[in-house]
Amino acid sequence: MKEFEIKTRVQAYEHTSQLPPLYAQLLEEARSALSSSYAPYSKFHVGAAVRMKNGKTLKGANQENAAYPICLCAERVALGNALTELPHGQVIAMAITVQNDHHEVSAPAAPCGSCRQAILEQEIKQNAPIKLILQGSIGKIYVINSAKEMLPLGFDGSYL
Ligand code: THU
Repeated sequence: MKEFEIKTRVQAYEHTSQLPPLYAQLLEEARSALSSSYAPYSKFHVGAAVRMKNGKTLKGANQENAAYPICLCAERVALGNALTELPHGQVIAMAITVQNDHHEVSAPAAPCGSCRQAILEQEIKQNAPIKLILQGSIGKIYVINSAKEMLPLGFDGSYL
């Protein structure tokens, strides 16, 4: 038996003013996407913004449904918007933030497993990592180098 470790590196910032300006700006765009969230059931709003290599920014927000399992996550809405606009574009970063109508969220907003899988697919398609910038409604910001680092031992097309 051999045991090995898989590491996720996280760069933690105490305040948006310490972030590289591009990431601070992208987080601002993600926050502005919260106003497009449709979350009458969970009252939990998620905003995402993706920055493309050509400088464009595309946004997404979660879209809920009375049939709960078909709710759309903000990250995949943002990715879908970006890749519909620029099908061969390269995503360099995605910022994600949240707003809970009942209380502040101080933990950085981690994308769900399905969204990590969807972002990973784009990393494989474009053969380049996507930086993830995560913040709750307040508090510290995490920057993570790629979806791959957030999804160790992930599934990909090489198995097919
Ligand atoms: N949600 C997202 O938009 N992204 C995630 O990564 C996790 C969850 C949404 C789905 C649903 O509308 C609400 O948050 C509560 O789960």
